[in-house]
Formats: sequence, C-alpha cells, structure tokens
Amino acid sequence: MKTRIHNVINANVTTFGPWLLRLTLFLTFSAFLSVHFSSISLSQDIDMEEIFRCSPSAEIGPEECSEARDLILNSCTLCHAFVPIVLQQFDRSGWDGLFDRHADRSPELSADQIEDMKSYLAANFNPSIDPPDLPTYLLDLWTSY
Ligand code: HEC
Repeated sequence: MKTRIHNVINANVTTFGPWLLRLTLFLTFSAFLSVHFSSISLSQDIDMEEIFRCSPSAEIGPEECSEARDLILNSCTLCHAFVPIVLQQFDRSGWDGLFDRHADRSPELSADQIEDMKSYLAANFNPSIDPPDLPTYLLDLWTSY
C-alpha cells in the first residue's frame, strides 16, 4: 500500500513537475515585471519637491524646510503614508492639536524637532493653500491609518 501511494505521488510529480516549474517561473517573472513597472511609474508620477513644498517665510527658510521634510518622511510614515499629512489643511493650532494627539507615537522626536515640523507644516499646509495635487493611487492612501 505504502509503495503504491509512493508510486502515484511519483507519477504525478513526473507528469506535473515541468508544468509546475514553468508556472512558477512565469509567475515569478510576472511578479518581477509588475513590481519593476509600478516602481517606474511611481518615480515618473510624483515630484516630492512639489508635494513637500517650501514657501520660505519669516518663520521658516529653505534649510529648515528640508530638515522638517526629512523628519516627516523618516518619522511620520511608520504607521501611515505621508498622504494624510500633506492633504491636511490645519492652521497653527490645528497642527498643535495633531501633535498633541500624536504625543506618544514618535517618542524619539525632541521638542525642537517637533517645533520645526509644526512650523514647516503650518507654513505650507494650511487653510489658505490648496493641498498638493496627488495621483489617484496616492489619494487612495488618504485614510491608510
Ligand atoms: C505610531 C503610529 C503613528 C506614527 C509614528 C504617526 N502617526 Fe499619524 N496617525 C496614526 C493613527 C493611528 C492615525 C488615525 C487617527 C488617530 O488615531 O489619531 C493617524 C492620523 C494622522 C493624521 C490624519 C488624522 C488627524 O488626526 O488629523 C495626520 C495628519 C497624521 N497622522 C500626521 C502624523 C505626523 C505629522 C506624524 C509624525 C510626527 C505621524 N502622524 C506619525 C498613527 C501614527
């Protein structure tokens, strides 16, 4: 009985083996292509400089902007995409409230770093400036939290 089962399994492996191998290779190749092409279209569609804009003001200059942007991209995208941040149009007290609600979420950030991010966000993402144009696949991440 044991031998018979063994033979049946062996026969199946021999018959389907090459097909399985071809199917696996085909699927692997398709997966590679789709990842490859989606990353190409990603880099073509979005301009991070435009999305993470910087309107230099008395409060915040280009250098502070780029520091704040780096902090946001490194610390604020662990749980959700950057999308809800740039679509938010808070005034200064709105951003204060957001950081209060998020107080325990990024414990590694210093008070100065938080202050820099608040100033950057309040100067560039507020009720008087339209949110940046985002492609649909990024808008779909709006509520990614
Ligand atoms: C530890 C996880 C975590 C990290 C890190 C995090 N967030 Fe969030 N964020 C959330 C969750 C969960 C929500 C959903 C609403 C809520 O619970 O506050 C959210 C929602 C938001 C929203 C939209 C909703 C709202 O309350 O206005 C914004 C804007 C936002 N986060 C900004 C930030 C910024 C800026 C940082 C970096 C300083 C950050 N988040 C880091 C978890 C996180």
